[in-house]
Amino acid sequence: MRPLRKGVIMSEDIIVLQQLSKCFVSEQGQVQALQAINLSIRKGEIFGIIGRSGAGKSTLVRCINLLERPSEGRVIVDGQELTALSPAQLRKQRHGIGMIFQGFHLLMQKTALQNVCFPLLITGVPRGEAEKRASALLDEVGLSDKKNAYPAQLSGGQMQRVAIARALATNPKVLLCDEATSALDPETTQSILDLLREINRRHGITIVVITHEMRVVEEICHRVAELKDGLLLRVGSVEEVLGDPSHQTVERLTIGLPQDEETALRVRCYLLSEGVLFEEEGAAIGRSV
Ligand SMILES: Nc1ncnc2c1ncn2[C@@H]1O[C@H](COP(=O)(O)OP(=O)(O)O)[C@@H](O)[C@H]1O
Ligand SMILES: [Mg+2]
Repeated sequence: MRPLRKGVIMSEDIIVLQQLSKCFVSEQGQVQALQAINLSIRKGEIFGIIGRSGAGKSTLVRCINLLERPSEGRVIVDGQELTALSPAQLRKQRHGIGMIFQGFHLLMQKTALQNVCFPLLITGVPRGEAEKRASALLDEVGLSDKKNAYPAQLSGGQMQRVAIARALATNPKVLLCDEATSALDPETTQSILDLLREINRRHGITIVVITHEMRVVEEICHRVAELKDGLLLRVGSVEEVLGDPSHQTVERLTIGLPQDEETALRVRCYLLSEGVLFEEEGAAIGRSV
């Protein structure tokens, strides 16, 4: 066992990526988004993934829960090889992996409480029990007084708190955060980072943080990996990676990323099709929750 800074103890790898490659093929041609990535993330750590826009960060994190299916290689999460599972087995296994996004992806016609209940109801948890758990989670993320508010009545930081509570509803072992603070002002970013650190400490959840903000990495990450053009450039402690004088990419990262709307839309469509997310038109899919 290896003690880390901030008192987190880690003993084993919870995410293992072996020879992971992803090639997108479209009418415009091929894009090699990831190339033979080998990476292990330890249980209980907050792990950062950095790199410039287009480096492959979102693709990498989406391969961890197989929202994106790798072209080659293996993804092992908590001892299960996800790349070898049937669709039904994979859906079950995904409950152990929560995810939050830059754009929150809340259901706008549902209250905070209903948003957090959602993943519980679709996994068959009785409504009363789901509401009790959702209520406790909203207390935990500091939204005790906003349970019946709709997303439009919440600030960005509050919406991200609802999204975090929703991601935690199924008791995941891993929480994936794709640019989760990139749409927030510095003060709100700080409060969300404090919350993520608290969740990591209290529940021992492994957190993977994708970001272009160096401040985020310095603030909460134990270790960090840097991607460039789909290749893993280096992995190490925050000090090692950010402190490397030959490190030019990081400085340029602060220029900022485009909003990545298309990617967000694709993920949203996927979550809808998997029944993880429900639009109000969700009734059309034939379930009422
Ligand atoms: N669905 C897709 N189809 C084709 N190319 C894609 C798709 N998704 C991502 N890409 C490409 O893969 C590369 C990595 O993208 P992405 O993982 O979103 O990078 P990052 O999150 O680091 O900005 C980029 O060149 C991007 O244009
Ligand atoms: Mg991205």
